[in-house]
Amino acid sequence: DETKAGVKGLVDAGITEIPRFFIQPPGDAVSAPPHYLQIPIIDLSCIRSHRRHIVEQVKRAAESFGFFQLVNHGIPQDVLDEMLRAVRRFHEAAPEEKSAYYSREAGRKVSYTSNFDLYQAPVANWRDSVFCVMAPDPPPPEELPIACRDVALEYSGQIERLGIVVFELLAEAMGLTSNHLIEMECARGHALVMNYYPPCPQPQLTLGTSKHSDPDFLTILLQDHIGGLQVLHQHYWIDVPPLPGALVVNIGDLLQLILNDKLRSIEHRVLANNVGPRVSVACFFTMHLYPTTQIYGPIRELLSDQCPPVYRQIHLQEYISHYESKGLDGRPALDYFK
Ligand code: SIN
Ligand code: FE2
Repeated sequence: DETKAGVKGLVDAGITEIPRFFIQPPGDAVSAPPHYLQIPIIDLSCIRSHRRHIVEQVKRAAESFGFFQLVNHGIPQDVLDEMLRAVRRFHEAAPEEKSAYYSREAGRKVSYTSNFDLYQAPVANWRDSVFCVMAPDPPPPEELPIACRDVALEYSGQIERLGIVVFELLAEAMGLTSNHLIEMECARGHALVMNYYPPCPQPQLTLGTSKHSDPDFLTILLQDHIGGLQVLHQHYWIDVPPLPGALVVNIGDLLQLILNDKLRSIEHRVLANNVGPRVSVACFFTMHLYPTTQIYGPIRELLSDQCPPVYRQIHLQEYISHYESKGLDGRPALDYFK
């Protein structure tokens, strides 16, 4: 019952010291990154007239950081604002209302949890999440929490369209035909994960999200104004600063696998904060939640004698079972499939 109240339940109970299982082992001390290392910002407003230039920017950003921010991406600001408000509405509702969605079972389309990997990961994270599988088969609307139902459906449609554009740009950046990744069904399925990071009384001792790479093809993230998302780059933790209206894009493990390491799924984390809450919505483009028999391996067009396949062919279910069984333990899941 206590876990159903989530991390927010602990904060509401007035704790001043965090429970032991949230305490991170001491990390390696890292110095502040030099100021010239910044996550690239790409403006999509001139995608029709300057497509080549944008493809070049996407290529550089994806190769160097594995992360970039998109502005003027076409999703209206009021949809973004309402999406973030809806996440707060859900998590700030009465515990009885939230617990109706509480589930640790796999295979549910809508579920609310605190720490999906509670029983696997060595340390718990200072966040609660709602998980909604939205495509290719959205749940019946009445299964979506009323607090976020309308906007989740609207946002899901908008983010799917943007996802297709990003996959096309990435394919072109890799020298593939524009629709290559779409034809591999990279954008066919997606899930929305609505994260809520309550203010933390001892933010130095824990993390909002432990270091991990994403188990999908691609993630598009909407974050609010609080900040705390950091990307690992050359042993530095680089901030992804909140930028009004922007969406953060990052390469996931499955894209790294099919692109045969030409792009990498970069590790990232979220700091805990004594102010907040912080709210974010991650859209994971993946098909692993569906019983697809499709097999994924390095794309043939990218292979040569000099460039042999790094990974074997896998079923997505095989990948995700491995990812989930290890939890966010700080080790890359992809290595297992070499
Ligand atoms: C995540 O990477 O899982 C969360 C990212 C965020 O909340 O900013
Ligand atoms: Fe992530």
